[in-house]
Amino acid sequence: MGMKDNGEFIDMRVDLAGMELRNPVILSSGTWGYGVEAPDIIEQVDSSRLGGIALKGIFYEPRCGNPTPRLAETSGGLLNAIGLEGVGVKAMAEEVLPCLHPRKTRIFVNICGTSREEYARITGELVQKAWDLFDVIEVNISCPNLDCGGMEFGTDPKSAAEVAGAVRKAAEGKPVFVKLAPLVTDISSIALAVAETGAEGLSLVNTYPAMLIDLDRRKPVLAKNFGGLSGPAIKPMALRAVCLVRKALKTHALSTAIIGMGGISSGRDALEFLVAGADAISLGTINFVNPLAYEKILSAMEEIMRDRFAQTGNPEDLRVRFWSGTLTLN
Ligand SMILES: Cc1cc2nc3c(=O)[nH]c(=O)nc-3n(C[C@H](O)[C@H](O)[C@H](O)COP(=O)(O)O)c2cc1C
Repeated sequence: MGMKDNGEFIDMRVDLAGMELRNPVILSSGTWGYGVEAPDIIEQVDSSRLGGIALKGIFYEPRCGNPTPRLAETSGGLLNAIGLEGVGVKAMAEEVLPCLHPRKTRIFVNICGTSREEYARITGELVQKAWDLFDVIEVNISCPNLDCGGMEFGTDPKSAAEVAGAVRKAAEGKPVFVKLAPLVTDISSIALAVAETGAEGLSLVNTYPAMLIDLDRRKPVLAKNFGGLSGPAIKPMALRAVCLVRKALKTHALSTAIIGMGGISSGRDALEFLVAGADAISLGTINFVNPLAYEKILSAMEEIMRDRFAQTGNPEDLRVRFWSGTLTLN
């Protein structure tokens, strides 16, 4: 519940796969580290205004990631090929998650693997060693920056469902969200295959495979040649993915949760994703512009909702969960 407005309360709470989030704004994996690296920024974070944080992805073992340059700006976007530099599951369970405790917001642990078994092994260890220290397992089957693992599982419905099923089995009831690759022929069929395993949610979407060229050197800008594009440039494509997947889930009477992401930079962008069918949204690249952007975006969402209520007088306009999936296609 939030500030009073003309006798009505603004209510930003959402239900995400049976979990209550105080608001629908989450920070995307890989764009806010492990939430513990920058104590000065952390001090400024008002967790009571944040719905959740997805931590940087981990494999089973610690990893160094790709050589540099591995980040480059382009008009309207960011190209990255970090290659999942990460601390591994042991340090996640024994060092990172305890540091975030007692947690003040929902914590998503993002995992990646080179095999179905690795995904299940990471999950098993998290569940065993750190059950009380996190809320959701987010399964990245969509990283475009790996030689082995990641996206190869996210481009085919059968292998996506196999990974989702293996993680679900190992998760012992912890909610599982599967993060899908956007550059596929038919994202709905992959989403449906994953949803049919009983996975609680889908994170839509990861970055789009892309490249940048240094014309003078006639070389790719990134050391790995190719990377994943994020930021405002991908927003219209990400919106379409959310819209198509929500439609397909509805057609199959599945109520799988969706976290929408891809280029969200304003309150208006965030609400568009909700209207398209997301239950919550996630902020990625905008965090590199301002790590506290979530605060501004949340306030902007509230302002748009109040304006809408002032026009319609409909109290549902002040309750953000009623915005989800209200898009009508032509
Ligand atoms: C530098 C960087 C690192 C990322 N690392 C991860 C990661 O470890 N795991 C993951 O699932 N997604 C990762 N992503 C993808 C983001 O979580 C998000 O899905 C994507 O950037 C789209 O959102 P945006 O346009 O708001 O950035 C990363 C993105 C960026 C830019």
